[in-house]
Amino acid sequence: MDFVTNEKLTIVGAAGMIGSNMAQTALMMRLTPNICLYDPYGPALEGVAEELYHCAFEGANITWTTDIREALTDAAYVVSSGGAARKAGMTREDLLKGNAQIAEQFGKDIKSYCPDVKHVVVVFNPADITGLIALIYAGLKPSQVSTLAALDSTRLRSELAKYFKISPDEIRNCRTYGGHGEQMAVFASTTLVAGRPLSELIGKEMPEGDWADLQQRVIQGGKHIIDLRGRSSFQSPAYLSICMIAAAMGGKPFEYRRRVRAQRRIQAYPDGDGDHHHERGRRL
Ligand SMILES: NC(=O)c1ccc[n+]([C@@H]2O[C@H](COP(=O)([O-])OP(=O)(O)OC[C@H]3O[C@@H](n4cnc5c(N)ncnc54)[C@H](O)[C@@H]3O)[C@@H](O)[C@H]2O)c1
Repeated sequence: MDFVTNEKLTIVGAAGMIGSNMAQTALMMRLTPNICLYDPYGPALEGVAEELYHCAFEGANITWTTDIREALTDAAYVVSSGGAARKAGMTREDLLKGNAQIAEQFGKDIKSYCPDVKHVVVVFNPADITGLIALIYAGLKPSQVSTLAALDSTRLRSELAKYFKISPDEIRNCRTYGGHGEQMAVFASTTLVAGRPLSELIGKEMPEGDWADLQQRVIQGGKHIIDLRGRSSFQSPAYLSICMIAAAMGGKPFEYRRRVRAQRRIQAYPDGDGDHHHERGRRL
């Protein structure tokens, strides 16, 4: 059975909940046989690797290491969830101090050990900021670094499907804007509900108050998972992060990108090469 590519994919934070699920998802999606797992916490990392070996994925070449140099050398693609997760009562921004330092070192390590990396996805929170820090220290082009904020859009899709009691597949083109945090903006303007613009339904079939409540549920979607499960979400960020890197690896385009934010970032850090902007727009 073929893989999308044979290039090396490194998963940073692989001993954690998101990292270990990302590794499994990438193997199930047959993205590449060459997956390297990195985490500073060796015992749990070895445990993740052992579990993946026990899955017996056909053709897989899974390696693991606590040496970041070994992990990143020759990596064409990197996804990182390596950092602290928030607990009940915390916002994503509460993680900033510690995770910003991790992002700085992550960026420097990319620059040292895999300066030719093709694409990096940053998951650890607050993802927009840690991604930007990693981008700056890695010296990559803005089009080479993506951050995971797609859950806000998929949560909007899910909440609308529940509200209108229709299949999520009938909710199209959900978009949220701004950072992946308490200040995100949940807009109605692009969304279609069973082919009809959501903005035309608000105030008619959906009272304004219901829309305001739904927006809050989207913003608090991550907190809701912590309340229900006693820990930060991991299945959905793992799956969507791997869908993002899959798009960069030559798989199908990623549906839940945030165009406005990406364009702003590219404008803020111009690389003088418009092609990369277009490449991101097409693939991710
Ligand atoms: N962007 C999103 O949508 C989204 C959604 C959910 C969670 N997250 C974030 O993802 C991150 C990981 O969450 P999790 O549930 O997997 O947490 P986890 O605690 O299960 O795993 C984190 C892993 O990171 C490792 N780690 C710690 N310091 C590291 C470093 N300097 N370099 C590499 N790895 C390091 C830890 O050893 C651990 O194995 C958190 O920051 C969390 O807030 C993001």
